[in-house]
Amino acid sequence: MAVLKIENLHAKVENQEILKGVSLEIKGGETHAIMGPNGTGKSTLASVIMGHPRYEVTAGTITLDGADVLEMETDERARAGLFLAMQAPQEVPGVTNSDFIKTAMNARLDEGENVSLFKFIKELDTAVAKLKMREDLPHRYLNDGFSGGEKKRNEILQMRMLKPAIAILDEIDSGLDIDALKIVGENVTEMKNPDLGMLLITHYSRILDYIAADHVHVMMKGRIVKSGSTDLMHKIDQDGYDWIKEELGIEDERVVPEENEEGILLGSCATREALEK
Ligand SMILES: Nc1ncnc2c1ncn2[C@@H]1O[C@H](COP(=O)(O)OP(=O)(O)OP(=O)(O)O)[C@@H](O)[C@H]1O
Ligand SMILES: [Mg+2]
Repeated sequence: MAVLKIENLHAKVENQEILKGVSLEIKGGETHAIMGPNGTGKSTLASVIMGHPRYEVTAGTITLDGADVLEMETDERARAGLFLAMQAPQEVPGVTNSDFIKTAMNARLDEGENVSLFKFIKELDTAVAKLKMREDLPHRYLNDGFSGGEKKRNEILQMRMLKPAIAILDEIDSGLDIDALKIVGENVTEMKNPDLGMLLITHYSRILDYIAADHVHVMMKGRIVKSGSTDLMHKIDQDGYDWIKEELGIEDERVVPEENEEGILLGSCATREALEK
């Protein structure tokens, strides 16, 4: 059974400290949800766990079954069983989706070993059907011209094929229509097993109608400030975050509380991306 253990994690990007002491333990079979307002460090945590080179870990530890994750390159982390479904999946023109998945699967095998092509195609076809995806999507360039919802479904296709030990799903529900949300949720739930630990980053409880979470955490100011059961999530759904801020004496929950001249919050990735467009 896999155990991902994060202790007192601090990380910075461009000289700005974003993670300020995150501690979290995810065991195989468990599903954890992280909620929290925009710009509080949720995606940064996901990126740091996967080893995105832009982020510098300044303190704390991450281990997977006792092995030091911070010592591993990103591809080693993937081979060790870590998986991230990204909030905004990258488009990779020139690499077909199925080649990408096959390469990632082969990378997890011992040197010289390859997945059987017959088995691969069969499994891929089944996964595409289960996710009710367009049949041409595996053969197109990775995410290139995919609709928002197709990209999200494709992340789950990769997860189905790669069978990670620890999966982090960053806003897998955003941009999905009601039917797609149900399909994605049911697919993820079907994958649940004692060897899979999951971290779901989400803003809304509706995805948790399809994927039951055992633990719910709230992130503010670059750390987990509150943990509880699904009751916590329902209360946030109803009452928002103000009561938590009041309870903990937090005035501004963002990690980087700056605003530009139009008063637009620069704190959240979503906003930053929108401004860059
Ligand atoms: N590469 C980067 N360069 C500059 N700032 C960054 C970078 N990555 C993260 N940040 C900043 O760190 C803060 C936290 O960002 P992060 O994406 O982790 O938030 P989030 O909690 O996932 O928000 P959202 O709910 O909007 O997705 C933000 O202020 C963001 O602008
Ligand atoms: Mg995010």
